[in-house]
Amino acid sequence: MTRSRIAGFYNLTLDERRAQLADAADLPLSDLLPFNSLLPTDIASHMVENVVGTFSLPLGIALNFQVNGRDVLVPMVIEEPSVVAGASFMAKLVRAGGGFTATSTDPLMIGQLQVLDVENAEKAAEQILANKAELMAHVDAAESSLKSRGGGARELEVRIIAESPIGKFLVVHLVYDVRDAMGANAVNTACERLAPKVEAIAGGRVHLRILSNLTDKRMAKATCRIPVKELAFGRGDPTGRPYTGEEVRDGIIEAWAFAAADPYRAATHNKGIMNGVDPVVIATGNDWRAVEAGAHAYAARTGKYTSLSTWSKDDEGNLVGELEMPMAVGIVGGATKVHPAAQAALKLMGVTTANELAEIIVSVGLAQNMAALRALATEGIQRGHMSLHARQVAIAAGASGELIEKVASQMVAEKMIRMERAEEILKESQG
Ligand code: MEV
Repeated sequence: MTRSRIAGFYNLTLDERRAQLADAADLPLSDLLPFNSLLPTDIASHMVENVVGTFSLPLGIALNFQVNGRDVLVPMVIEEPSVVAGASFMAKLVRAGGGFTATSTDPLMIGQLQVLDVENAEKAAEQILANKAELMAHVDAAESSLKSRGGGARELEVRIIAESPIGKFLVVHLVYDVRDAMGANAVNTACERLAPKVEAIAGGRVHLRILSNLTDKRMAKATCRIPVKELAFGRGDPTGRPYTGEEVRDGIIEAWAFAAADPYRAATHNKGIMNGVDPVVIATGNDWRAVEAGAHAYAARTGKYTSLSTWSKDDEGNLVGELEMPMAVGIVGGATKVHPAAQAALKLMGVTTANELAEIIVSVGLAQNMAALRALATEGIQRGHMSLHARQVAIAAGASGELIEKVASQMVAEKMIRMERAEEILKESQG
């Protein structure tokens, strides 16, 4: 059984952290070895074209997560300071209220066929729908690994696009259950197989045959409830009065209301959610551009771009958060399969289905959203960013080992986080 609380993790050396992590995840240390090494170039050069090397990013572990009653250690690949710490801290507060509750729909992807040059769009739509069973059976007749795992065509829908720059045309949606795959390849293959049949039935010409990244039939939802007293905290400036739980709660709700009403704020608010989502999507070898595209298209589904999350209070005054968004991620196929660190990431989280992974990811998105709103509604975002930013500047100025912390903390104390200052402190320290 995994334990996601590891006291003092931050203060350990890298090797100590790895040992503690393996222990907390109840895994042999060797299962986590891929985290220590670069992606081998022979694997990389089979993943994309013209490979000349690899590019690595930090992989941190978000602690304290409990999703549907199970402790989860969450690997996050990200270059931005404060994200891993923010998610871990919020997960700790949420844990006090019972952890995250998450659900997800069946893994249904949508494949689109653009049907042009039909004589009568309405009549063609009727003909396609009248032959729905045959069309779906034709898709399912093809042998595929997905079919052997219980996936396949689930529905066929027809839409008429009445106005476009090229006039009226038809769109066929193939709703396809991709089980534990992200499913892009499977859906695209199914669409290409379906196209000649659709042409034969509806007349016209099938033009594009491709999945939609607005995967609004493949959704994940997380909710959390934080006891109001858990939200109270002291100010960074010790002369100030501490923040009460009620103040923090109401501040978070007011901050959310801004995003709910204003697309300029909603874009930043949702970016904060994606700060939690993308690092886990990347760590598991999934397509983060697909998840980003789905998130933002869904946020604009009513015609007005808005917040993906909601924040409110319940009858007892607890803070309640909810995040529901499309989540097209898989645990088989693609980079997930070939990238050793992605395999290790899935093992660390102990996920056995794509749905479970989606539920963890949306919980981390909600935690990260809360971390940003809590900071923005109280001390402001810069305070938390300051010390990690200072360390990055210290490293850029040439500090290494113990000097990184020394240079960084002096710059924070002086409230002067600049490269020139880092270089000066470094020179003084080196005598
Ligand atoms: C920074 O990467 C993310 C935030 O801007 C999110 C937000 O404003 O809600 C802090």
